[in-house]
Amino acid sequence: MPDTLIEAQSVCRRYQQGGVSIAAVVSATFRLCGKDRVALVGRSGSGKSTLIHLMAGLDVPTSGMLRWPALGAAGTLLPGKISLVFQTPSLLEPLTVSENVALPLLMAKVQGDIGSAVADALATFGLADLASKLPEALSGGQMQCVAMARAIAGKPSVILADEPTGQLDQPTGRALLDALLAHLSGTATALVVATHDPAVAARMDTIWHMQHGTLSSTGSTGSTGSTAGCV
Ligand SMILES: Nc1ncnc2c1ncn2[C@@H]1O[C@H](COP(=O)(O)OP(=O)(O)O)[C@@H](O)[C@H]1O
Ligand SMILES: [Mg+2]
Repeated sequence: MPDTLIEAQSVCRRYQQGGVSIAAVVSATFRLCGKDRVALVGRSGSGKSTLIHLMAGLDVPTSGMLRWPALGAAGTLLPGKISLVFQTPSLLEPLTVSENVALPLLMAKVQGDIGSAVADALATFGLADLASKLPEALSGGQMQCVAMARAIAGKPSVILADEPTGQLDQPTGRALLDALLAHLSGTATALVVATHDPAVAARMDTIWHMQHGTLSSTGSTGSTGSTAGCV
């Protein structure tokens, strides 16, 4: 049985805005294990990004239990163990593509040759030619691909990708996903991809549905331990 990486029991996240309480995530219960391939699907506003930020430890549940059994405790998660591909542009403007990809490795004090780790990550997605460019010289789609390269460079235990193909045409999105899945095959890394695209969701083993903040799991064809809403 692979390691349990992220475990949630009745996790809720409410936002208070102008005296109104918005339930973005309602009582989510799930387990994410090594090697899991999960598509997180749901309409805009259903709570996908909120759930991903909670799983990354960037946000804190209003109630419920969230744990990272194999990775550390909230607030002290081991650096570099969880990679996040944000839905919105997230490259740092003054840094080149290479420097953006290297930054998390430097912050995590990764040992070894960071330069070749960066080059490998860029090559995985066919981005070597962009290495010395600044983000302002890239298209939105290229920025998303670079963010994906940044996510894999440190060999994380979990990759959380929030609509990573949202800015890409379908063939380019498919190529990005092909390259990502090929790169991850044979590794213990777990992958969660929030997506609107049925073609992307179909490539994953398990589908988690978000509807008005409620998480449920159907269409599981995987043999791993990820479960949602039913533990
Ligand atoms: N920082 C915030 N403050 C207030 N409401 C928020 C905030 N972030 C998200 N929401 C609300 O929470 C709900 C879920 O949003 P989100 O997680 O971004 O959904 P999705 O990623 O599925 O589009 C929406 O109703 C959204 O308006
Ligand atoms: Mg979102």
